[in-house]
Amino acid sequence: MASTLAKPVILFVCLGNICRSPLAEAAFRKAAAEAGLEADTDSAGTAAYHVGSSPDPRSIATASDHGIDISTYRGRQLTEHDFTRFTHIFAMDHQNLRNIKAVAPAGSSVKIALLMDCVKGREGAAIADPYYDGEDRFDETWEDVDAAAKALVATLAGRD
Ligand code: 4NP
Repeated sequence: MASTLAKPVILFVCLGNICRSPLAEAAFRKAAAEAGLEADTDSAGTAAYHVGSSPDPRSIATASDHGIDISTYRGRQLTEHDFTRFTHIFAMDHQNLRNIKAVAPAGSSVKIALLMDCVKGREGAAIADPYYDGEDRFDETWEDVDAAAKALVATLAGRD
């Protein structure tokens, strides 16, 4: 039976919007497509360092390993408008969660949480910043965002 819930509109947020959040968006889009869940998505950074940039080449390669092309994604910074456009905003770590909450307009009804809160047993966990680490760290980032994406899709599709 088709879901009667409103279509979710989900924003994934990290610091630079070139490593973790593009991978989280990619993993979610893949999981949603596989589950037949309709959702709109985007990603953003709390910082402006990489506005207009392509994802980090290591993120592009990791997504490609999983059959997803994220090379056309472009970095952007979180804006006040995001708090009215999205139904959910997911932070990759605690610092970004604090920064998102700090700029949330009063009375905003968007759900703001850590992405790993979606995974039973890993609530409150951060997705570590892989930017200063080696390529191997990006596989761990993928494992985290993929687990969260699958759990989030199951919840949104009402299958959990
Ligand atoms: P992200 O990783 O927040 O997962 O995109 C980072 C990317 C860039 C920087 C830090 C973290 N930076 O300092 O430029």
